[in-house]
Amino acid sequence: MKPDVASVPQHIAIIMDGNGRWAERRHRPRAFGHRAGQKAVRESVAFCLRHSIQVLSLFAFSSENWHRPEDEVGALMNLFIRALDREVDELDQQGVCIRFIGDLDAFSSPIRTRMQQAMQRTQAHQQLYLNIAVNYGGRWDMVQAARKIARLATDEQLDPASIDEARLAGLFCLADQPNPDLLIRTGGERRISNFMLWQLAYTELYFTDTLWPDMNEQAFEGALTDFQLRVRRFGQTTAQVTAGA
Ligand code: IPE
Ligand code: IPE
Ligand code: MG
Repeated sequence: MKPDVASVPQHIAIIMDGNGRWAERRHRPRAFGHRAGQKAVRESVAFCLRHSIQVLSLFAFSSENWHRPEDEVGALMNLFIRALDREVDELDQQGVCIRFIGDLDAFSSPIRTRMQQAMQRTQAHQQLYLNIAVNYGGRWDMVQAARKIARLATDEQLDPASIDEARLAGLFCLADQPNPDLLIRTGGERRISNFMLWQLAYTELYFTDTLWPDMNEQAFEGALTDFQLRVRRFGQTTAQVTAGA
C-alpha cells in the first residue's frame, strides 16, 4: 500500500537503542551489537529515501554515554572511524547531506577531521538531510542556545524583552530544519534519554521492543503506518483539525 502522501513525516528522529542487549543475547561482547547496528542505519536511510522523507536524525552517542566502560567507549569510537571511512562514499552517491550535531570538540582529531570532511563533501546534497547526533544532549543544546543569546544581549545586539519562542528556536541545533514529526525509539525503553528536548515538543512518539540491529524495512513500515493513524492536534480539537484538513 502506498502511504498517504499528506501524512508522510518530513522529519523522523530515531533513538537507536538495544545494541548491547542484542549482542548479550548472543553471548557476544556489546561492541558486536554496535557493529550489527550499522545495517539498520543503512536500512533507515534507504527507507527515508524511498518514502521521500526529507530529514532523518539518528541519536548515535549521547553526552552521557561517555560514562560507559572505557572499552565500550573505545569500541564505539573505533566504529565511528570505520563507519565514516566506509559509509560516506555511498551516502554521497545517494545525495545525502550529512550533518553531525553535538559537542564535537570532545572527539579525537581523527574523528573530528572525518566528520568535517563528510559534512563538507555532502553539504550541497538535498535528497535527504541526515543528522547524526554524537556527544549530543538536549540539555547541552539548550545550554549552547542560552550562551548564544546571552552573548547577543551582552553585546547589546538584542533586547532581552524581545526574546520569544521563535528567536530562541533559531538558536538550537537544526533550527533550519522542520522539527521531528515522528520519534522512533527501539529497544523497549519508553523515555527520551536527553534527545532533542526542545524540538520534540509536538513529535509523535513511537516505541518498539525491537532491538536496533533487528530493525528492517518491515519494522520501519510498521512505525510509519502507526504514525499515519495519529491525529496531530497541536492543542486544537479533533473537529477543528478535521475541518482544517
Ligand atoms: C544504543 O544501544 C547505542 C548507544 C547508546 C551507543 P545500547 O548500547 O544502549 O544497547 P542496550 O540498551 O544496552 O541494549
Ligand atoms: C540513548 O540510549 C542514547 C542513544 C541511543 C545514543 P541509552 O541506552 O544511552 O539510554 P538510557 O541510558 O537507557 O536512558
Ligand atoms: Mg541503551
